[in-house]
Amino acid sequence: MNEREMIQEIQRLKKEKNAVILAHNYQIPEIQEIADIVGDSLKLSQEAAKTTADIVIFSGVHFMAESAKILSPDKKVLLPVYDAGCPMADMIDADQLRVFKKEYPDLPVVCYVNSSAEVKAESDICCTSSNAVKIVKSMKADKILFVPDRNLGNYIAKQVPEKEIICWEGFCITHHRVKASEVDAVRRQHPDAKILIHPECSPDVVAMADFVGSTSQIIHYAKESDSKTFIIGTEMGVLHKLRKENPDKKFYLLSPGLTCFNMKKTTLPDIYQALLKEQYEITVDEEIRQKALGALERMLELS
Ligand code: 13P
Ligand code: SF4
Repeated sequence: MNEREMIQEIQRLKKEKNAVILAHNYQIPEIQEIADIVGDSLKLSQEAAKTTADIVIFSGVHFMAESAKILSPDKKVLLPVYDAGCPMADMIDADQLRVFKKEYPDLPVVCYVNSSAEVKAESDICCTSSNAVKIVKSMKADKILFVPDRNLGNYIAKQVPEKEIICWEGFCITHHRVKASEVDAVRRQHPDAKILIHPECSPDVVAMADFVGSTSQIIHYAKESDSKTFIIGTEMGVLHKLRKENPDKKFYLLSPGLTCFNMKKTTLPDIYQALLKEQYEITVDEEIRQKALGALERMLELS
């Protein structure tokens, strides 16, 4: 089967099985092109919560498909590559979070969606990079535990100085490797460019940004901006939409290291096999799901 035939088969199976394909902005261009919805973590959770499809093919990483299952338990949620995970989400488990909470009794826990269902179940509310500041601002407590991303936590702390944010020491291995010296170098090369950075980058890199936001917020900012040149400080998958939607603008990746190996695992044949064989199904223990659902729903209500 060549690529064109495979795309046709994917479309046919999708219709036959009443399936929807949700893809994250970091997925490869071929998948973004065949997906029904391409977006950031928040948009994809919102879509998963309201879908009427019987099958959700989640082209992204494990925690995203798991969140979809938590929000839509009656749907069959499939992750096309069973080991597409998020190393940051694996940097804290429920036992570690319970110990962290004991160290700071009575403090509420805000948990980045890049986390397991068990960690969400131990948290008061979730957030994504697009609504993290709003969620933390909305909380009554003036001291908050934030897991697992210390870089996003640090960014929130700067935006919400009236609160103390106590962070877990997790980080995104892709964004965290970008160095401030790379921003300096690229700025010298393109002095007129706007620098758009994801808050998973380290604080010294984030401090050099013209704009900080989630993947979709970065895409939106570039579209609305009068500027013609942009330096992109997030995973390279976003370049597809940026270049497609803005043929008259120039986009440069801030660092060659901005490739998430896990986000790049899924290929078109994986999507085809997922639809054909209905693999790999995501399941979540019902007690954990109920608790994690509370944290996700509280976030969606505020978004
Ligand atoms: P957003 O698309 O929500 O910005 O998420 C970034 C990310 O790293 C997902 O793994
Ligand atoms: Fe996880 Fe970072 Fe990859 Fe997103 S880009 S899936 S946070 S490792």
